[in-house]
Amino acid sequence: MNHPIRLGILGAARIAAGFVAGARLSQRVEVVAVGSRDAAKAAEFARAHGIERALSYEELLGAMDIDAVYIPLPNSLHAPWSIAALRAGKHVLCEKPLALSEAEALEMFEAADAASVVLLEGYPYLYQPMMQQIERLIAEGAIGEIQTITAACGFTLNNPNDIRLDPSLGGGALLDSGCYPVSFIRQLIGNRPTRVSAVARWRNDVDETLAATLEFASGAIAQVTCSFATGLHRSALIAGSGGIIETEFQNHTIRSQTPSFRLRRGSDWRNPTETIPVPREDGFRLELDAFVDMIEHGDSAARRAASIDNAWTLAEILNIARGVATA
Ligand SMILES: NC(=O)c1ccc[n+]([C@@H]2O[C@H](COP(=O)([O-])OP(=O)(O)OC[C@H]3O[C@@H](n4cnc5c(N)ncnc54)[C@H](OP(=O)(O)O)[C@@H]3O)[C@@H](O)[C@H]2O)c1
Repeated sequence: MNHPIRLGILGAARIAAGFVAGARLSQRVEVVAVGSRDAAKAAEFARAHGIERALSYEELLGAMDIDAVYIPLPNSLHAPWSIAALRAGKHVLCEKPLALSEAEALEMFEAADAASVVLLEGYPYLYQPMMQQIERLIAEGAIGEIQTITAACGFTLNNPNDIRLDPSLGGGALLDSGCYPVSFIRQLIGNRPTRVSAVARWRNDVDETLAATLEFASGAIAQVTCSFATGLHRSALIAGSGGIIETEFQNHTIRSQTPSFRLRRGSDWRNPTETIPVPREDGFRLELDAFVDMIEHGDSAARRAASIDNAWTLAEILNIARGVATA
């Protein structure tokens, strides 16, 4: 492309403000429009964030000069609006979790293929140099074979009207914050689990706190916890046959004073723990650059497979936690 990708945002969501700030750091995209169900809300968001056009969702998808769409809608609306945008010929960067089931994810990628456009699930942490360094160290054998991963993400949700507490909108701690540990584990192990077990505590018919165990063909076992009823936390411990890595796998290391992760080689507690510094980066900028790379050079089969596996795994965990029989 010889011009920056012209991007529209579907929904004046809270997260969209941070996204616009990250997009400003990229030379390769320009946020040109915001769509809302409410014209006054669209106009106010556009004014507050210096965006040219305030539109309805339908007008935004119909605009011929918009190349791509960012979708920060409630989780249950990711599939229908991504499919509508893909059918309108727009590349789509959709917020996590991409879909509520494997079938939905497959339908979304089919729509992308039919229109010859790109669909990407938005996980900013994946593009952080921290994550890439961790993946490289594991591939080089720095901690041996992964045996266990324990990964957690949670915070306190106080607003009773939050979309996260509405079951009809795809609410619940797993889909909101637990999708990070699930994606992190899938990224490092490289395939979906072969067996899942899970338990949850429920509030308003959504999972408020959930714990799951994932077993993999390699023999690795992973544990995921997530919650809307804890202090803010996000961390992972990857334990291999020859060492361990501990990380917060942040989306935006730009917020940390001294972003880093920890590596201890071998299995002797006296071995030094190396604190490995990483650059401070805005994850939205990195994610957008990866999105534009895909638009310019083609889809990533690995990213697509990961998103489909993530959708399957999240649905499987929820079904098991609810006691629904699965295949
Ligand atoms: N990557 C990250 O760091 C990150 C962080 C937080 C959230 N997220 C994801 O981003 C998405 C949005 O989260 P958020 O916290 O920004 O949510 P939010 O502030 O509630 O925004 C969701 C937006 O969706 C639109 N919408 C359309 N139909 C709706 C309905 N029936 N009910 C409520 N809203 C509706 C609304 O925009 P209009 O009224 O303008 O149409 C609303 O502003 C979620 O998928 C979440 O998982 C990602």
